[in-house]
Amino acid sequence: MAGEEREPLGVVGAGWVGLVTAACFAELGHEVVVRDIAPGRIAALERGESPIHEPGLGEALARNRQRLRYTEDLGELLEAARIAFVCVGTPSTPEGDTDLSAVWHVLDELDSPEEGLVLVMKSTVPVGTGERIRARFDALGLAGVGYVSNPEFLSEGTALLDVTSPDRVVIGAFADEDGRRVAAVYEPLGAPIVHTDVASAEMIKLASNAALATRISFINEIANVCELVGADVQEVARGIGLDRRLGPHFLRAGIGFGGSCFPKDASALKQLAANSGYHFQLLSAVIEVNELQKRRIIQKLQAHLGPLRDRTIALLGLAYKPHTNDMREAPSLVIAPRLLAEGAVVRAWDPVALDEARAVLGGVVFAETLHDAVNDADAAVIVTEWPELLELVSSDVRDAMRTPLIVDGRNLLDPAAARAAGFTYEAIGRPLALVPHPPRAKEPARGLL
Ligand SMILES: NC(=O)c1ccc[n+]([C@@H]2O[C@H](COP(=O)([O-])OP(=O)(O)OC[C@H]3O[C@@H](n4cnc5c(N)ncnc54)[C@H](O)[C@@H]3O)[C@@H](O)[C@H]2O)c1
Repeated sequence: MAGEEREPLGVVGAGWVGLVTAACFAELGHEVVVRDIAPGRIAALERGESPIHEPGLGEALARNRQRLRYTEDLGELLEAARIAFVCVGTPSTPEGDTDLSAVWHVLDELDSPEEGLVLVMKSTVPVGTGERIRARFDALGLAGVGYVSNPEFLSEGTALLDVTSPDRVVIGAFADEDGRRVAAVYEPLGAPIVHTDVASAEMIKLASNAALATRISFINEIANVCELVGADVQEVARGIGLDRRLGPHFLRAGIGFGGSCFPKDASALKQLAANSGYHFQLLSAVIEVNELQKRRIIQKLQAHLGPLRDRTIALLGLAYKPHTNDMREAPSLVIAPRLLAEGAVVRAWDPVALDEARAVLGGVVFAETLHDAVNDADAAVIVTEWPELLELVSSDVRDAMRTPLIVDGRNLLDPAAARAAGFTYEAIGRPLALVPHPPRAKEPARGLL
Protein backbone atom coordinates (compact mmCIF):
# COMPACT_ATOMS: atom_id res chain seq x y z
CA MET A 1 0.00 0.00 0.00
CA ALA A 2 3.09 2.22 -0.13
CA GLY A 3 2.54 5.77 -1.34
CA GLU A 4 -1.23 5.76 -0.85
CA GLU A 5 -2.69 8.12 1.74
CA ARG A 6 -4.89 6.14 4.13
CA GLU A 7 -7.34 7.46 6.67
CA PRO A 8 -6.28 7.30 10.35
CA LEU A 9 -8.39 4.82 12.31
CA GLY A 10 -9.27 4.23 15.95
CA VAL A 11 -9.71 0.87 17.69
CA VAL A 12 -11.43 0.76 21.09
CA GLY A 13 -10.50 -2.40 23.02
CA ALA A 14 -7.13 -4.14 22.72
CA GLY A 15 -8.22 -7.78 22.98
CA TRP A 16 -8.17 -10.50 20.35
CA VAL A 17 -10.41 -8.63 17.94
CA GLY A 18 -9.07 -5.14 18.61
CA LEU A 19 -5.38 -5.94 18.39
CA VAL A 20 -5.62 -8.19 15.36
CA THR A 21 -7.82 -5.62 13.61
CA ALA A 22 -5.42 -2.81 14.51
CA ALA A 23 -2.43 -4.79 13.25
CA CYS A 24 -4.24 -5.56 10.00
CA PHE A 25 -5.27 -1.93 9.41
CA ALA A 26 -1.73 -0.78 10.16
CA GLU A 27 -0.43 -3.35 7.69
CA LEU A 28 -2.76 -1.81 5.10
CA GLY A 29 -1.04 1.54 5.71
CA HIS A 30 -3.39 3.24 8.20
CA GLU A 31 -2.19 5.09 11.27
CA VAL A 32 -4.12 3.37 14.08
CA VAL A 33 -4.74 4.63 17.61
CA VAL A 34 -5.65 1.77 19.96
CA ARG A 35 -7.42 2.59 23.20
CA ASP A 36 -7.94 0.25 26.16
CA ILE A 37 -8.97 0.91 29.75
CA ALA A 38 -6.61 -1.73 31.17
CA PRO A 39 -3.39 0.16 32.03
CA GLY A 40 -1.35 -3.07 32.13
CA ARG A 41 -2.42 -3.89 28.60
CA ILE A 42 -1.45 -0.47 27.25
CA ALA A 43 1.87 -0.55 29.11
CA ALA A 44 2.68 -4.00 27.67
CA LEU A 45 1.83 -2.85 24.16
CA GLU A 46 3.99 0.24 24.57
CA ARG A 47 6.89 -1.99 25.64
CA GLY A 48 6.38 -3.93 22.41
CA GLU A 49 4.80 -6.98 24.08
CA SER A 50 1.59 -8.59 22.91
CA PRO A 51 -0.68 -9.09 25.94
CA ILE A 52 -2.32 -12.13 24.30
CA HIS A 53 -0.99 -15.29 22.69
CA GLU A 54 -2.00 -15.23 19.04
CA PRO A 55 0.34 -16.63 16.37
CA GLY A 56 2.00 -13.87 14.35
CA LEU A 57 0.41 -11.01 16.30
CA GLY A 58 3.56 -9.93 18.16
CA GLU A 59 5.45 -9.79 14.86
CA ALA A 60 2.66 -7.89 13.09
CA LEU A 61 2.50 -5.30 15.89
CA ALA A 62 6.28 -4.92 15.84
CA ARG A 63 6.41 -4.66 12.04
CA ASN A 64 3.88 -1.82 12.10
CA ARG A 65 4.90 -0.06 15.31
CA GLN A 66 5.48 3.25 13.49
CA ARG A 67 1.80 3.32 12.57
CA LEU A 68 0.39 2.08 15.89
CA ARG A 69 -0.22 4.24 18.95
CA TYR A 70 -1.62 3.01 22.27
CA THR A 71 -3.54 5.05 24.80
CA GLU A 72 -5.92 4.89 27.74
CA ASP A 73 -7.46 8.18 26.62
CA LEU A 74 -10.46 7.95 24.30
CA GLY A 75 -10.08 11.68 23.57
CA GLU A 76 -6.66 11.03 22.01
CA LEU A 77 -8.20 8.42 19.72
CA LEU A 78 -11.07 10.70 18.69
CA GLU A 79 -8.68 13.54 17.97
CA ALA A 80 -6.76 11.37 15.52
CA ALA A 81 -9.47 9.25 13.89
CA ARG A 82 -12.85 9.80 12.21
CA ILE A 83 -13.69 6.10 12.11
CA ALA A 84 -13.63 4.25 15.46
CA PHE A 85 -13.96 0.46 15.60
CA VAL A 86 -15.46 -0.72 18.91
CA CYS A 87 -13.94 -4.09 19.89
CA VAL A 88 -14.76 -4.31 23.60
CA GLY A 89 -15.86 -7.53 25.27
CA THR A 90 -19.55 -8.49 25.35
CA PRO A 91 -19.65 -11.49 27.71
CA SER A 92 -22.73 -13.36 28.90
CA THR A 93 -24.72 -12.36 31.94
CA PRO A 94 -25.40 -15.25 34.35
CA GLU A 95 -28.82 -15.57 32.68
CA GLY A 96 -27.28 -15.98 29.21
CA ASP A 97 -28.15 -12.53 27.86
CA THR A 98 -25.41 -10.29 26.50
CA ASP A 99 -23.67 -8.00 28.96
CA LEU A 100 -23.35 -4.76 27.02
CA SER A 101 -21.91 -2.71 29.87
CA ALA A 102 -18.52 -2.22 28.15
CA VAL A 103 -20.28 -1.00 24.99
CA TRP A 104 -22.45 1.45 26.98
CA HIS A 105 -19.36 2.59 28.85
CA VAL A 106 -17.76 3.60 25.55
CA LEU A 107 -20.93 5.44 24.53
CA ASP A 108 -21.13 7.23 27.88
CA GLU A 109 -17.62 8.51 27.32
CA LEU A 110 -18.54 9.85 23.88
CA ASP A 111 -20.05 12.95 25.37
CA SER A 112 -19.68 15.32 22.45
CA PRO A 113 -18.40 13.43 19.40
CA GLU A 114 -17.74 15.50 16.33
CA GLU A 115 -19.96 15.36 13.28
CA GLY A 116 -18.50 13.03 10.70
CA LEU A 117 -17.33 10.43 13.20
CA VAL A 118 -18.45 6.90 12.33
CA LEU A 119 -18.71 4.46 15.20
CA VAL A 120 -18.22 0.93 13.89
CA MET A 121 -19.42 -1.95 16.08
CA LYS A 122 -17.14 -4.98 15.71
CA SER A 123 -18.13 -6.38 19.10
CA THR A 124 -20.84 -9.04 18.88
CA VAL A 125 -24.08 -7.49 20.08
CA PRO A 126 -27.74 -8.55 20.18
CA VAL A 127 -29.88 -7.61 17.21
CA GLY A 128 -31.41 -4.22 17.96
CA THR A 129 -28.32 -2.76 19.66
CA GLY A 130 -27.49 -0.59 16.66
CA GLU A 131 -31.04 0.73 16.58
CA ARG A 132 -30.76 1.69 20.28
CA ILE A 133 -27.44 3.42 19.72
CA ARG A 134 -28.77 5.29 16.69
CA ALA A 135 -31.78 6.44 18.73
CA ARG A 136 -29.46 7.59 21.50
CA PHE A 137 -27.28 9.60 19.09
CA ASP A 138 -30.38 11.15 17.53
CA ALA A 139 -31.82 12.04 20.94
CA LEU A 140 -28.53 13.79 21.78
CA GLY A 141 -28.73 15.77 18.53
CA LEU A 142 -25.88 13.76 17.01
CA ALA A 143 -27.50 12.97 13.68
CA GLY A 144 -24.14 13.66 12.02
CA VAL A 145 -22.42 10.84 13.88
CA GLY A 146 -22.64 7.63 11.87
CA TYR A 147 -23.14 4.09 13.13
CA VAL A 148 -22.14 0.93 11.29
CA SER A 149 -22.38 -2.72 12.31
CA ASN A 150 -19.30 -4.62 11.12
CA PRO A 151 -19.21 -7.93 12.97
CA GLU A 152 -15.97 -9.87 13.24
CA PHE A 153 -15.63 -13.55 12.28
CA LEU A 154 -12.03 -14.31 13.19
CA SER A 155 -11.04 -17.53 14.98
CA GLU A 156 -8.39 -17.41 17.67
CA GLY A 157 -5.28 -19.28 16.61
CA THR A 158 -5.70 -18.19 12.97
CA ALA A 159 -6.91 -14.65 13.66
CA LEU A 160 -4.41 -12.75 11.52
CA LEU A 161 -5.12 -14.86 8.46
CA ASP A 162 -8.86 -14.62 9.10
CA VAL A 163 -8.73 -10.83 9.29
CA THR A 164 -6.41 -10.29 6.34
CA SER A 165 -8.18 -12.87 4.11
CA PRO A 166 -11.79 -12.85 5.30
CA ASP A 167 -14.46 -14.97 3.59
CA ARG A 168 -16.61 -11.86 3.63
CA VAL A 169 -16.88 -8.46 5.26
CA VAL A 170 -20.34 -7.62 6.57
CA ILE A 171 -21.32 -3.96 6.73
CA GLY A 172 -24.70 -2.93 8.05
CA ALA A 173 -25.36 0.81 7.89
CA PHE A 174 -28.19 3.25 8.49
CA ALA A 175 -26.68 5.65 5.93
CA ASP A 176 -25.10 4.37 2.69
CA GLU A 177 -22.28 6.91 2.88
CA ASP A 178 -21.19 5.59 6.31
CA GLY A 179 -21.24 2.03 4.95
CA ARG A 180 -19.13 3.09 1.96
CA ARG A 181 -16.54 4.79 4.19
CA VAL A 182 -16.10 1.62 6.23
CA ALA A 183 -16.10 -0.60 3.14
CA ALA A 184 -13.28 1.53 1.70
CA VAL A 185 -11.04 0.46 4.61
CA TYR A 186 -11.53 -3.21 3.68
CA GLU A 187 -11.42 -2.87 -0.10
CA PRO A 188 -7.66 -3.66 -0.40
CA LEU A 189 -8.35 -7.10 1.10
CA GLY A 190 -10.37 -8.05 -1.99
CA ALA A 191 -13.00 -9.94 0.01
CA PRO A 192 -16.72 -9.96 -0.88
CA ILE A 193 -18.46 -7.15 0.98
CA VAL A 194 -22.02 -7.74 2.14
CA HIS A 195 -23.79 -4.38 2.42
CA THR A 196 -26.95 -4.72 4.43
CA ASP A 197 -29.07 -3.11 7.13
CA VAL A 198 -27.81 -2.92 10.71
CA ALA A 199 -30.20 -5.50 12.22
CA SER A 200 -29.37 -8.05 9.51
CA ALA A 201 -25.62 -7.52 9.99
CA GLU A 202 -26.05 -8.14 13.72
CA MET A 203 -28.07 -11.28 12.98
CA ILE A 204 -25.53 -12.58 10.41
CA LYS A 205 -22.93 -12.75 13.18
CA LEU A 206 -25.14 -14.51 15.72
CA ALA A 207 -26.59 -16.89 13.12
CA SER A 208 -23.13 -17.78 11.75
CA ASN A 209 -21.87 -18.79 15.19
CA ALA A 210 -25.11 -20.63 15.95
CA ALA A 211 -24.77 -22.58 12.67
CA LEU A 212 -21.17 -23.55 13.47
CA ALA A 213 -22.09 -24.56 17.02
CA THR A 214 -24.97 -26.62 15.62
CA ARG A 215 -22.64 -28.53 13.33
CA ILE A 216 -20.32 -29.30 16.22
CA SER A 217 -23.12 -30.58 18.45
CA PHE A 218 -24.54 -32.53 15.50
CA ILE A 219 -21.32 -34.41 14.80
CA ASN A 220 -20.81 -34.97 18.53
CA GLU A 221 -24.20 -36.64 18.78
CA ILE A 222 -23.38 -38.73 15.70
CA ALA A 223 -20.14 -39.70 17.49
CA ASN A 224 -22.04 -40.74 20.59
CA VAL A 225 -24.29 -42.98 18.50
CA CYS A 226 -21.24 -44.33 16.63
CA GLU A 227 -19.88 -45.53 19.96
CA LEU A 228 -23.04 -47.50 20.58
CA VAL A 229 -23.30 -49.06 17.15
CA GLY A 230 -19.64 -49.68 16.32
CA ALA A 231 -19.09 -47.04 13.62
CA ASP A 232 -16.10 -44.66 13.46
CA VAL A 233 -17.11 -40.99 13.45
CA GLN A 234 -13.90 -39.97 11.67
CA GLU A 235 -14.87 -42.17 8.74
CA VAL A 236 -18.45 -40.97 8.93
CA ALA A 237 -17.37 -37.30 8.94
CA ARG A 238 -15.10 -37.92 5.94
CA GLY A 239 -17.99 -39.45 4.06
CA ILE A 240 -20.40 -36.67 5.02
CA GLY A 241 -17.92 -33.92 4.24
CA LEU A 242 -17.40 -34.97 0.64
CA ASP A 243 -21.04 -34.14 -0.05
CA ARG A 244 -20.81 -30.69 -1.63
CA ARG A 245 -24.10 -29.70 -0.04
CA LEU A 246 -22.53 -30.24 3.38
CA GLY A 247 -18.78 -29.69 3.07
CA PRO A 248 -16.07 -30.94 5.44
CA HIS A 249 -15.83 -28.09 7.95
CA PHE A 250 -16.82 -28.29 11.61
CA LEU A 251 -17.42 -32.03 11.48
CA ARG A 252 -14.71 -32.94 13.94
CA ALA A 253 -16.15 -34.83 16.87
CA GLY A 254 -14.76 -34.14 20.32
CA ILE A 255 -15.67 -32.89 23.75
CA GLY A 256 -17.48 -29.85 22.48
CA PHE A 257 -16.95 -26.19 21.84
CA GLY A 258 -15.75 -23.54 24.28
CA GLY A 259 -14.17 -20.14 23.98
CA SER A 260 -15.34 -16.59 24.24
CA CYS A 261 -17.76 -16.78 21.30
CA PHE A 262 -19.72 -19.95 20.50
CA PRO A 263 -21.14 -20.61 23.99
CA LYS A 264 -22.05 -17.01 24.67
CA ASP A 265 -23.30 -16.22 21.17
CA ALA A 266 -25.46 -19.36 21.00
CA SER A 267 -26.89 -18.46 24.38
CA ALA A 268 -27.32 -14.80 23.36
CA LEU A 269 -29.31 -15.78 20.25
CA LYS A 270 -31.45 -18.20 22.25
CA GLN A 271 -32.15 -15.47 24.83
CA LEU A 272 -32.74 -12.84 22.15
CA ALA A 273 -35.33 -15.13 20.59
CA ALA A 274 -36.91 -15.83 24.00
CA ASN A 275 -37.00 -12.14 24.88
CA SER A 276 -38.77 -11.59 21.55
CA GLY A 277 -41.33 -14.32 22.29
CA TYR A 278 -39.81 -17.26 20.39
CA HIS A 279 -38.54 -20.53 21.87
CA PHE A 280 -35.45 -21.47 19.83
CA GLN A 281 -35.63 -25.22 20.48
CA LEU A 282 -32.81 -26.27 18.17
CA LEU A 283 -30.34 -23.93 19.85
CA SER A 284 -31.39 -25.11 23.31
CA ALA A 285 -30.49 -28.65 22.24
CA VAL A 286 -27.18 -27.54 20.71
CA ILE A 287 -26.17 -25.91 24.00
CA GLU A 288 -27.29 -28.88 26.11
CA VAL A 289 -25.49 -31.41 23.92
CA ASN A 290 -22.34 -29.34 24.28
CA GLU A 291 -22.61 -29.23 28.06
CA LEU A 292 -23.08 -32.99 28.32
CA GLN A 293 -20.32 -33.76 25.85
CA LYS A 294 -17.56 -32.44 28.13
CA ARG A 295 -18.79 -34.66 30.95
CA ARG A 296 -18.51 -37.84 28.86
CA ILE A 297 -14.80 -37.78 29.63
CA ILE A 298 -15.60 -38.67 33.24
CA GLN A 299 -17.71 -41.67 32.20
CA LYS A 300 -14.98 -42.86 29.85
CA LEU A 301 -12.39 -42.67 32.62
CA GLN A 302 -14.69 -44.50 35.02
CA ALA A 303 -15.34 -47.21 32.44
CA HIS A 304 -11.61 -47.96 32.42
CA LEU A 305 -10.55 -47.13 35.96
CA GLY A 306 -13.66 -47.65 38.05
CA PRO A 307 -14.08 -45.04 40.81
CA LEU A 308 -11.72 -42.13 40.26
CA ARG A 309 -11.01 -41.49 43.94
CA ASP A 310 -7.22 -41.00 44.42
CA ARG A 311 -6.55 -41.69 40.76
CA THR A 312 -4.14 -39.23 39.17
CA ILE A 313 -5.48 -37.81 35.94
CA ALA A 314 -3.27 -35.78 33.62
CA LEU A 315 -5.35 -33.07 31.97
CA LEU A 316 -3.53 -32.14 28.77
CA GLY A 317 -4.36 -28.83 27.14
CA LEU A 318 -6.24 -26.25 29.20
CA ALA A 319 -6.92 -23.37 26.78
CA TYR A 320 -10.21 -23.71 24.93
CA LYS A 321 -8.39 -24.45 21.68
CA PRO A 322 -4.79 -24.82 20.52
CA HIS A 323 -2.60 -21.81 19.67
CA THR A 324 -4.25 -19.50 22.17
CA ASN A 325 -3.94 -18.83 25.90
CA ASP A 326 -7.65 -17.98 26.12
CA MET A 327 -9.32 -19.88 28.97
CA ARG A 328 -12.80 -18.45 28.46
CA GLU A 329 -15.38 -21.28 28.58
CA ALA A 330 -12.61 -23.85 28.12
CA PRO A 331 -13.84 -27.45 28.58
CA SER A 332 -11.01 -27.91 31.10
CA LEU A 333 -12.95 -25.57 33.40
CA VAL A 334 -15.74 -28.15 33.56
CA ILE A 335 -13.70 -31.36 33.40
CA ALA A 336 -11.19 -30.46 36.16
CA PRO A 337 -13.82 -29.64 38.82
CA ARG A 338 -15.80 -32.77 37.86
CA LEU A 339 -12.68 -34.90 38.35
CA LEU A 340 -11.90 -33.19 41.66
CA ALA A 341 -15.48 -33.82 42.77
CA GLU A 342 -14.92 -37.53 42.06
CA GLY A 343 -11.88 -37.43 44.34
CA ALA A 344 -9.25 -37.61 41.61
CA VAL A 345 -5.91 -35.83 41.72
CA VAL A 346 -5.75 -33.57 38.66
CA ARG A 347 -2.41 -32.70 37.09
CA ALA A 348 -2.86 -30.03 34.46
CA TRP A 349 -0.57 -28.98 31.64
CA ASP A 350 -0.73 -26.53 28.76
CA PRO A 351 2.12 -25.20 26.59
CA VAL A 352 1.03 -21.53 26.78
CA ALA A 353 -1.97 -21.08 29.09
CA LEU A 354 -0.56 -22.20 32.46
CA ASP A 355 -0.57 -18.70 33.97
CA GLU A 356 -4.09 -17.99 32.75
CA ALA A 357 -5.25 -21.43 33.96
CA ARG A 358 -3.73 -20.85 37.42
CA ALA A 359 -5.92 -17.78 37.76
CA VAL A 360 -9.18 -19.68 37.15
CA LEU A 361 -8.59 -23.36 38.03
CA GLY A 362 -8.48 -24.16 41.72
CA GLY A 363 -7.46 -27.43 43.38
CA VAL A 364 -5.38 -28.81 40.53
CA VAL A 365 -1.62 -29.40 40.40
CA PHE A 366 0.03 -27.60 37.50
CA ALA A 367 2.79 -29.40 35.62
CA GLU A 368 5.45 -27.39 33.79
CA THR A 369 6.17 -30.15 31.27
CA LEU A 370 4.14 -32.79 29.51
CA HIS A 371 6.34 -35.45 31.04
CA ASP A 372 5.72 -34.12 34.58
CA ALA A 373 1.99 -34.24 33.90
CA VAL A 374 1.86 -37.87 32.78
CA ASN A 375 4.46 -39.25 35.17
CA ASP A 376 2.83 -41.89 37.38
CA ALA A 377 -0.63 -40.88 36.13
CA ASP A 378 -3.51 -43.32 35.85
CA ALA A 379 -4.79 -41.66 32.70
CA ALA A 380 -3.92 -38.92 30.26
CA VAL A 381 -6.86 -36.93 28.92
CA ILE A 382 -6.41 -34.84 25.78
CA VAL A 383 -8.62 -31.82 26.33
CA THR A 384 -7.09 -29.47 23.76
CA GLU A 385 -5.47 -30.73 20.58
CA TRP A 386 -2.07 -29.07 20.89
CA PRO A 387 0.32 -30.54 18.29
CA GLU A 388 2.79 -31.22 21.14
CA LEU A 389 0.44 -33.98 22.30
CA LEU A 390 1.27 -36.08 19.26
CA GLU A 391 4.39 -36.94 21.29
CA LEU A 392 2.27 -38.84 23.79
CA VAL A 393 2.47 -42.00 21.74
CA SER A 394 5.92 -43.05 22.88
CA SER A 395 7.43 -45.80 25.00
CA ASP A 396 8.78 -43.10 27.39
CA VAL A 397 5.29 -41.85 28.18
CA ARG A 398 3.84 -45.35 28.33
CA ASP A 399 6.51 -46.44 30.83
CA ALA A 400 6.16 -43.26 32.88
CA MET A 401 2.43 -43.72 33.41
CA ARG A 402 1.06 -45.87 36.20
CA THR A 403 -1.70 -47.00 33.87
CA PRO A 404 -1.06 -46.35 30.17
CA LEU A 405 -4.56 -45.10 29.45
CA ILE A 406 -5.22 -42.25 27.02
CA VAL A 407 -8.66 -40.72 26.68
CA ASP A 408 -8.44 -38.57 23.59
CA GLY A 409 -11.15 -35.93 23.81
CA ARG A 410 -10.18 -34.44 20.44
CA ASN A 411 -9.53 -37.52 18.29
CA LEU A 412 -6.00 -36.23 17.84
CA LEU A 413 -4.05 -39.48 17.90
CA ASP A 414 -4.00 -42.46 15.58
CA PRO A 415 -5.82 -45.23 17.51
CA ALA A 416 -3.82 -48.02 15.87
CA ALA A 417 -0.49 -46.35 16.66
CA ALA A 418 -1.53 -45.64 20.26
CA ARG A 419 -2.63 -49.21 20.84
CA ALA A 420 0.46 -50.59 19.08
CA ALA A 421 2.59 -48.52 21.47
CA GLY A 422 0.96 -50.29 24.41
CA PHE A 423 -1.67 -47.76 25.44
CA THR A 424 -5.27 -48.41 26.22
CA TYR A 425 -6.73 -45.77 23.93
CA GLU A 426 -10.19 -44.38 23.82
CA ALA A 427 -11.43 -41.43 21.80
CA ILE A 428 -14.78 -39.90 20.85
CA GLY A 429 -17.04 -41.82 18.51
CA ARG A 430 -14.42 -44.38 17.54
CA PRO A 431 -14.44 -48.13 18.12
CA LEU A 432 -13.72 -48.79 21.78
CA ALA A 433 -10.48 -50.01 23.25
CA LEU A 434 -10.24 -53.77 23.49
CA VAL A 435 -9.14 -53.86 27.15
CA PRO A 436 -11.70 -52.19 29.39
CA HIS A 437 -11.29 -51.96 33.18
CA PRO A 438 -7.50 -52.54 33.45
CA PRO A 439 -6.42 -53.15 37.04
CA ARG A 440 -4.30 -50.57 38.85
CA ALA A 441 -0.88 -51.38 37.44
CA LYS A 442 1.06 -51.07 40.71
CA GLU A 443 -1.43 -53.02 42.81
CA PRO A 444 -2.26 -56.72 42.72
CA ALA A 445 -5.04 -57.30 40.23
CA ARG A 446 -8.36 -57.51 42.02
CA GLY A 447 -10.00 -60.92 41.79
CA LEU A 448 -6.69 -62.75 41.49
CA LEU A 449 -5.94 -62.80 45.23
N1 LIG B 1 -12.18 -13.55 20.49
C1 LIG B 1 -12.77 -13.96 19.38
O1 LIG B 1 -12.43 -15.03 18.84
C2 LIG B 1 -13.86 -13.14 18.73
C3 LIG B 1 -14.21 -13.39 17.40
C4 LIG B 1 -15.20 -12.64 16.81
C5 LIG B 1 -15.89 -11.68 17.55
N2 LIG B 1 -15.57 -11.48 18.85
C6 LIG B 1 -16.29 -10.47 19.59
O2 LIG B 1 -15.50 -9.29 19.63
C7 LIG B 1 -15.64 -8.64 20.90
C8 LIG B 1 -14.28 -8.52 21.58
O3 LIG B 1 -13.84 -9.84 21.83
P1 LIG B 1 -12.35 -10.12 22.33
O4 LIG B 1 -12.20 -11.60 22.41
O5 LIG B 1 -11.39 -9.31 21.51
O6 LIG B 1 -12.45 -9.50 23.80
P2 LIG B 1 -11.28 -9.33 24.87
O7 LIG B 1 -11.90 -9.53 26.18
O8 LIG B 1 -10.09 -10.13 24.46
O9 LIG B 1 -10.88 -7.80 24.71
C9 LIG B 1 -11.73 -6.75 25.07
C10 LIG B 1 -10.85 -5.57 25.46
O10 LIG B 1 -11.69 -4.43 25.62
C11 LIG B 1 -11.16 -3.68 26.70
N3 LIG B 1 -12.19 -2.72 27.15
C12 LIG B 1 -13.25 -2.93 27.95
N4 LIG B 1 -13.94 -1.78 28.10
C13 LIG B 1 -13.30 -0.84 27.36
C14 LIG B 1 -13.51 0.51 27.10
N5 LIG B 1 -14.54 1.18 27.62
N6 LIG B 1 -12.65 1.16 26.29
C15 LIG B 1 -11.60 0.49 25.76
N7 LIG B 1 -11.34 -0.80 25.97
C16 LIG B 1 -12.18 -1.46 26.76
C17 LIG B 1 -10.74 -4.72 27.71
O11 LIG B 1 -9.84 -4.19 28.65
C18 LIG B 1 -10.12 -5.77 26.79
O12 LIG B 1 -8.74 -5.52 26.60
C19 LIG B 1 -16.68 -9.42 21.67
O13 LIG B 1 -17.94 -8.87 21.42
C20 LIG B 1 -16.58 -10.81 21.03
O14 LIG B 1 -17.79 -11.52 21.14
C21 LIG B 1 -14.55 -12.18 19.46
